[in-house]
Amino acid sequence: MSKQPLIKLPPVLEKLAPKQSPELDYSTNLNYRSFFVGLTNLDFAVNFEKKALIGFVEYELERKDDAEAVFLDVTTVSVSSVEIDGKPTQFSIKTEGLNNKLGNALVVPLQKDTKKFVLKVGFESLPSLTALQFLDKAQTDGKKAGYLFSQSEPIHARLIFPCFDTPGVKTPYKVRVVLPQKTLVSCLPDSEAQEKETDKNVYHFKQPVPIPAYLFAIVSGDIEGAKIGPRSTIYTEPVGLERCAAEFKDEVVEKFLGVLENLLFPYEWSTYDFVVAPMAFPYGGMENPQLTLANLTVVSGDGENIDVIAHELAHSYSGNLVTNASWEHFWLNEGWTVYLERRILAGLHGEKYRHFSAIIGWQDLEESIDQMDKKYTKLIQNLKDGSDPDDAFSTVPYEKGFNFLFHLENVVGGTSEFDPFIRHYFTTFRKTSLDTYQFIECLLSFYYHTNYSIYEKLLEVDYETWLLKEGLPPKPQFDTSLVDVCISLGDKYYSFLKSANGEPIDFTQFPDLETSDYSSNQLVVFLDHILTLHKKHDFLNSDNGRAMLRYISSYLRIVKNLNAEVRFRMYRLFMLAREQKEYDSFAEWLGTVGRMKFVRPGYMLLNECDRKLAISTFERFKGRYHPICVAMVKKDISLD
Ligand code: BES
Ligand code: ZN
Repeated sequence: MSKQPLIKLPPVLEKLAPKQSPELDYSTNLNYRSFFVGLTNLDFAVNFEKKALIGFVEYELERKDDAEAVFLDVTTVSVSSVEIDGKPTQFSIKTEGLNNKLGNALVVPLQKDTKKFVLKVGFESLPSLTALQFLDKAQTDGKKAGYLFSQSEPIHARLIFPCFDTPGVKTPYKVRVVLPQKTLVSCLPDSEAQEKETDKNVYHFKQPVPIPAYLFAIVSGDIEGAKIGPRSTIYTEPVGLERCAAEFKDEVVEKFLGVLENLLFPYEWSTYDFVVAPMAFPYGGMENPQLTLANLTVVSGDGENIDVIAHELAHSYSGNLVTNASWEHFWLNEGWTVYLERRILAGLHGEKYRHFSAIIGWQDLEESIDQMDKKYTKLIQNLKDGSDPDDAFSTVPYEKGFNFLFHLENVVGGTSEFDPFIRHYFTTFRKTSLDTYQFIECLLSFYYHTNYSIYEKLLEVDYETWLLKEGLPPKPQFDTSLVDVCISLGDKYYSFLKSANGEPIDFTQFPDLETSDYSSNQLVVFLDHILTLHKKHDFLNSDNGRAMLRYISSYLRIVKNLNAEVRFRMYRLFMLAREQKEYDSFAEWLGTVGRMKFVRPGYMLLNECDRKLAISTFERFKGRYHPICVAMVKKDISLD
């Protein structure tokens, strides 16, 4: 691709743009800009008794300046030895003068004349609360073997192995793992190395596409795979495999891939495999290459939560191939991914569905911005004081990010004008990491060179509001056709209740509204609307809560629905109505989901209704949740 002359940024951004792009990552203790990192070579054994990874990591490095030492991020990792080009060398662990939230630094002094070298570090990961989850047999579904899964985004890879833990550094990987059971890492199998291997407990992998440390992941346990398309295998514990695979029938993942390849360019990662993780996995999904981890709630029985997989798959382009250079620009990962996820929806089901999903997202955004610390509601975050990127995590980078891109799409004149830019952007930054300023520069320069009148329109965009200001952005125009029916049903309900004017309500008189053709996601919108109306008018109570639902034709579909999004809202409605009969059932349900999206607000709600029950329920189930989730719930309901 020919390099085009640089275009000036709008003045509000020009003022903030760093002298050298991409902007420095402030969420690491490294001097990473002083080195070119060519390859990461990991070689370790998993020790289930010690709950540790023990082995070596090797980096091919080239010094670019006169840095006196090389730094690696380490938190709960002990370092046993360091070699440079095969020779043992001095090292120290620096803990002083660093921000503890970011962990420690392994410091390896360098000789003056060292330029290209291989750095080899012996390490053992210590039990950590966030990165590695070792489950005992008893905590698995099949109860046959221990289970290990990891979660590194945003800055937990440094709790697994000494690494360049910044999304600004990407390298190919070679991995050798010693383990007596099925093991997957976020790489392809290295069949060449495997063929030469004589030890059947040794697995070889390679990742030819450069990836940042936060995308390194491992899963090990009694897992089995089923092919669900020409390029895709789903893995899970054998007992759940059939049900999980059935959720992805008709090669739907291949269809998702087809939409992306059509919009962008051929898929670069060969395969798209994913694992439906044990209940404790705290997120909906995590996009490790070749090893997406997905929460059990993705398999809802109605195929209506598989958009989580569309999302994680879309990360193959946005996030994994084109990466935010620091967590301040996290919206480049997530906003773009939500945008692509919704383009997949449009490709499969039509434009209306894209808007439907965007409206649900907008409601989410309104609600979170209302509740959260306003300093984290900006699209470009400020983490320069060493704030923990996990603290800045919210819906904002996802939905404000999506809406910004959707706004740009509209400004340039719709998808037909926007798509060539999308392709250009992902091609330009393929296999690299960038910041928001580079993105805007790329946008302006693309239209400057291809369509000047669009370029002029883009200069009018209020970048300050979108990227730098707190709070909700301007609301775009959405096609509301799929939500209108759900909203008006909610409105009818409410006015029916109001018309009773405090008299006992005869629900048999409730107009029979046909809702049986609603999708689960439409039921979600309907229930959300009732909840919003309740917030305004406080009308739900134990006389009308359940009764109200009972008279819609979808009642059974709601109360029997396994879709966690529907179920959670149903319980929310019951709880707000103070339907005491439902408290226990809600508490039991909270013991079956591990996704923080449900668990955290779930306990807060139960706590509001019945603190004793919330505490006893949490005590009963806390062993099932991920430690991050346990810590969050404790904070949420003030248990410490
Ligand atoms: N990359 C995220 C998960 C993540 C982000 C983990 C930051 C840790 C720190 C993943 O792609 C994601 O966004 N998951 C969502 C899925 C949803 C938006 C479809 C989730 O977990 O809810
Ligand atoms: Zn994501």
